[in-house]
Amino acid sequence: MAAAKHFTYVILGGGVAAGYAAREFAKQGIKPGELAIISKESVAPYERPALSKGYLFPQNAARLPGFHTCVGSGGERLLPEWYSEKGIELILSTEIVKADLASKTLTSSADAIFTYDTLLIATGSSVIKLTDFGVQGAEANNILYLRDIDDADKLVAAMQAKKDGKAVVVGGGYIGLELSAALKTNNFDVTMVYPEPWCMPRLFTAGLAAFYEGYYANKGIHIIKGTVAVGFDADANGDVTAVKLKNGNVLEADIVIVGVGGRPLTHLFKGQVAEEKGGIKTDAFFETSVPGVYAIADVAAFPMKLYNEMRRVEHVDHARKSAEQAVKAIKAKEAGESVPEYDYLPYFYSRSFDLSWQFYGDNVGEDVLFGDNDPTAAKPKFGSYWIKDGKVVGVFLEGGSAEENQAIAKVARAQPPVADVEALKKEGLDFAAKV
Ligand code: FDA
Ligand code: NAD
Repeated sequence: MAAAKHFTYVILGGGVAAGYAAREFAKQGIKPGELAIISKESVAPYERPALSKGYLFPQNAARLPGFHTCVGSGGERLLPEWYSEKGIELILSTEIVKADLASKTLTSSADAIFTYDTLLIATGSSVIKLTDFGVQGAEANNILYLRDIDDADKLVAAMQAKKDGKAVVVGGGYIGLELSAALKTNNFDVTMVYPEPWCMPRLFTAGLAAFYEGYYANKGIHIIKGTVAVGFDADANGDVTAVKLKNGNVLEADIVIVGVGGRPLTHLFKGQVAEEKGGIKTDAFFETSVPGVYAIADVAAFPMKLYNEMRRVEHVDHARKSAEQAVKAIKAKEAGESVPEYDYLPYFYSRSFDLSWQFYGDNVGEDVLFGDNDPTAAKPKFGSYWIKDGKVVGVFLEGGSAEENQAIAKVARAQPPVADVEALKKEGLDFAAKV
């Protein structure tokens, strides 16, 4: 058996959180050889959101090294050389298949052994596949998913091979909406299929969704709601040719993109750490039930101070901030000091076509649509407030300027009271500007 390699700190996973954690370690001060990132990906950490946006542009597409972390939040781009300059070991193309938290040992699929004093679990999420449910024919070629750069490269190759073809997008969430737009921009004939009455139901209200569905329809995207894919046909090469729907319809397809949700990658730690909400339970410093083991970003279920509730968040802003919080807490603890508790304001965003929205806070309670959500408007600007216990707790805005987005973030944090809902509706964005 190979000798174990020891590090003071190991970050398991080489995605968004890993990049931001490494930057914070460097800021706080580490010695060469103390920190390693172990990732099954073959490239240094990058800004994952680019994969469903700039990476798929028909012209001037984003490519590495252009979007390594930490450019996504306006910071310095950490190229592979940056890690070597800092003495941070990037152990790439290495999948950890066993984690033994009692002996502080990680084992790779090639039987390499790594030991640590402090572990940061940053394994992110995996995609839910239709083959997981045994959907007939779901293993055909060109039925694609999108989680990492290898998936994105497969998608780009399929778009080139099936140029100007027919694409079916299964799922009406983030991947469904962003990928339908990307495929349309690449001149595919696109049909979206999802089971719910409107798209992105975990965030959008009926009023918000009506705009996006109308806008997408005007771009020529066909939308089929209230049904799911139950089978696929393939040709003699094994390439997908059709999608069979539960409602009996059959759609021709050269490419199928599936975005039916993700699952936090926690299986290596089952039975070894406390879990909650499908993730690894942490405190406000992202330390798990096992001292010296931290869990950050998608995999962490942490106390959301603002709502006094345990939550898991699968978005990039939290990935960045939770990584920074955990590293600050680790270094403070070593110095016998402490840092303030994580006090996160949820922030999600998306971009597709010429559209761009931001959301802050919590989408619970009564929703109040404001502005003009006419999908044919030249410059759409509209949004929604959510009101709970007489206070604004969440705000969504499409087409906002930087100042307007800052204003809605402020509202979601301040939670101002609302006396008159009709007046709020009329006031719209002006209400936020005054807070
Ligand atoms: P992330 O997935 O970034 O990294 C996990 C890493 O761990 C990967 O490198 C993986 O290979 C590695 N790994 C896992 N298991 C391993 C093992 N056993 N051994 C070794 N390595 C292992 N959010 C948002 O707010 N706005 C947006 O626009 C987007 N857009 C977007 C597009 C696409 C295509 C995706 C897939 C996701 C988004 N997101 C997003 C979500 C956001 O990217 C996500 O929340 C963060 O990447 C989570 O960061 P993590 O570091 O937790 O996981
Ligand atoms: P999601 O949870 O946003 O959407 C899943 C969607 O799948 C549901 O809305 C539903 O319409 C659909 N669905 C469920 N079962 C189905 C079935 N059997 N057939 C058809 N549709 C079905 O998940 P996603 O879009 O797959 O995104 C995966 C992950 O990537 C998430 O963590 C998400 O946060 C992240 N992501 C985020 C962004 C962003 O924040 N802008 C962009 C891309 C991806």
